[in-house]
Amino acid sequence: MSAARIAVLVSGGGTNLQALIDAQQQGLLSSGQIVLVISNKADAYALERANKAGIPGVVITKKDCGGDQVAFEETILAQLAACEIDLIVLAGFMSILSQRFTDAYPKRILNVHPSLIPAFCGAGFYGLRVHEAALAKGVKVTGATVHFVNEIPDGGEIILQKAVEVQAGDTPETLQRRVMEQAEWLILPEAVEMVSEKLMQQL
Ligand code: GAR
Repeated sequence: MSAARIAVLVSGGGTNLQALIDAQQQGLLSSGQIVLVISNKADAYALERANKAGIPGVVITKKDCGGDQVAFEETILAQLAACEIDLIVLAGFMSILSQRFTDAYPKRILNVHPSLIPAFCGAGFYGLRVHEAALAKGVKVTGATVHFVNEIPDGGEIILQKAVEVQAGDTPETLQRRVMEQAEWLILPEAVEMVSEKLMQQL
């Protein structure tokens, strides 16, 4: 096997997916290859990014699975198995996965979170809400974390973190953008390469 087969799970804009695609095209991500993108939102712009990069995109919504979490996760697991996926990357995937799911891929699911865990994380902390909470608390430094995913939301082993300064006058939007540019888009590809490389040695 030449590269770990990666699936990226998304829900929205997909800038972190784009960072992975760019890293792959620049040769910074070479131990893994993105072979599948799964979105739980039909209108996610991330799907267009996948399409432009020639990566198959699949939509699996909870609604299409009768609103049932077990059926939703089973459908995703079946798709992952069909594509012989080795590593799963949650890149702005806004759905909490159950232990049944996370146990199926121990230390093979990564997530990027827009804060320095353990600050501003866990259920209810996602997307802009994380930055709203950081500004409300008045922290002067925030950042991003890439971690393994287990049954505890944002509770798995930390792989990489990077700090980012909060600036006077920041809004949740300006802070989100800085955290993405200065942290998420750098540490996510780096962590995916690190984990893929290790995985390749095991396989
Ligand atoms: C990113 O900031 C990501 O860290 C965050 O959502 C955004 C998705 O942006 N994820 C979470 O909050 C997960 N708890 P993107 O779709 O442009 O990558």
